[in-house]
Amino acid sequence: MHDEVKEYYGKVLQSSEDLKTDACCTTEEMPDHLKQAMSKIHTEVASRYYGCGLVRPQQLQGMRILDLGCGSGRDCYVLSQLVGEDGFVMGVDMTDEQLDIANAYIDYHTEAFDYKKPNIAFKKGYIERLDELNLEDNSFDIIVSNCVINLSPDKESVLKEAYRVLKPGGELYFSDVYSDRRVPAELVKDPVLYGECLSGALYWNDFQNLAKKCGFLDPRLVEDRPLGIENKQVEALIGHINFYSATYRLFKLDDLEAACEDYGQSVVYKGSIAHHPQFFNLDKHHAIERGRHFSVCGNTWQMLKESRFCEHFEFYGDMNKHFGIFPGCGSDIPFTKSISSDDSSVGGGCC
Ligand SMILES: C[S@@+](CC[C@H](N)C(=O)[O-])C[C@H]1O[C@@H](n2cnc3c(N)ncnc32)[C@H](O)[C@@H]1O
Repeated sequence: MHDEVKEYYGKVLQSSEDLKTDACCTTEEMPDHLKQAMSKIHTEVASRYYGCGLVRPQQLQGMRILDLGCGSGRDCYVLSQLVGEDGFVMGVDMTDEQLDIANAYIDYHTEAFDYKKPNIAFKKGYIERLDELNLEDNSFDIIVSNCVINLSPDKESVLKEAYRVLKPGGELYFSDVYSDRRVPAELVKDPVLYGECLSGALYWNDFQNLAKKCGFLDPRLVEDRPLGIENKQVEALIGHINFYSATYRLFKLDDLEAACEDYGQSVVYKGSIAHHPQFFNLDKHHAIERGRHFSVCGNTWQMLKESRFCEHFEFYGDMNKHFGIFPGCGSDIPFTKSISSDDSSVGGGCC
């Protein structure tokens, strides 16, 4: 699988124009400060972008970030601006052609961002084997990844390695493709379906269980969209499987509970995170308004208190008295389209 994927991203695809589906495209509206950061990215780097979501968590100043499957480096160069000169971004990818482009523009971007020295580095390697790159335990604040983990033949190792190198309280914030049912083995063998980030996709419930097994005890869905498969051949092959692009955030917090439990706690957002003056969106179910008491379960409390977000919240309560299960933290079926729907007219523009 590794060789087929290298061939696909190194030789078959030359730019996002060559994609056959919109799986590896991003359609989300970008806020102005991100548009500004994007405008500084060299066109050759941007033209080989194959991501499926926006991997821009809040509060990045000074952070050490690792990008799994960085490709030609578009996300890394945007993040390089958001972490500032004191932060650091490392991209890992296995495909020479992608890394050649990423590396070719380090000096260009250092100058464009007005930095004295680069705050970015790219390494060639496999995301299943970060130990071979000497990446140490507890060494990154945040890990991002954009449309890559579905391509890995060993997703469990990827998640376990991510957990190992994340600092406690850090998070894996990543966009990827998921399916609403398990993809049959014969489709996984199809090099185009696999290369286009479809047939390697995990069924969402298998993903959530795998994430928990690897230590990420309460996966939080940030956003999702159904993929529009507009290629007739691809559509015929995949039949009634529905695919989604989704962004999850997985916190490395050992004390999270298996379910959201109610301890009568609440938080108040101070509105102090740059570019997020009115709301802090933890995930799809938590838009926390500035200055307003917001009831939270014990897990959400920990995600805010034991992470880089702590200083931006006031915390009320503790975990001494239990009031039962917390209502409404998430839903069993995470994605927006009903899995029993026959409607194939899902949206999704391209790139
Ligand atoms: C769909 S592209 C996404 C690239 C990049 N994240 C972006 O948004 O443009 C997938 C990338 O992941 C890399 N990749 C896939 N599997 C990998 C693995 N097991 N180890 C390292 N890189 C991998 C490929 O070489 C390719 O560059």
